Amino acid sequence: MKIGIGNDHAAVDMKFEIADYLKELGYEVVNYGTDKKESCNYPEYGEAVARAVASKEVDLGILICGTGVGISLAANKVKGIRAAVCSEPATARLSRQHNNTNILAFGARIVGMELAKDIVKAWLDAEFEGGRHQTRVDMIMEIEDK
Ligand code: RB5
Repeated sequence: MKIGIGNDHAAVDMKFEIADYLKELGYEVVNYGTDKKESCNYPEYGEAVARAVASKEVDLGILICGTGVGISLAANKVKGIRAAVCSEPATARLSRQHNNTNILAFGARIVGMELAKDIVKAWLDAEFEGGRHQTRVDMIMEIEDK
């Protein structure tokens, strides 16, 4: 499975550590940047990963900025994307089981490295449960066409 990863200047170190962790877990990782610590604009990287997920260039995406908020807001503007900011593993797991999130976001200034890895693992190990949740996810996605 291919995971696209993107971040702003606040999350360069965390991005590389999470990318290594993903590789250890057996995932293929595609890095959409930034790899630089100079101040940059998170929407660029949120959009790049979101477009890669939406076009199926990668299977899922992980986005990291200072809080996870700005980069997830940008990603959610791309049609077909369901990105959620998760600061602990239970929300990450449920965001896949119930909301079928295709992008996980979190903040390098909010969660520590070990917690970030637990969040990533919980998200990747979870599966969408379908059923009544499918109806609700369909309703969310229909909003894009209104
Ligand atoms: C950058 O300073 C910061 O605003 C960004 O990383 C993120 O937290 C925005 O939501």
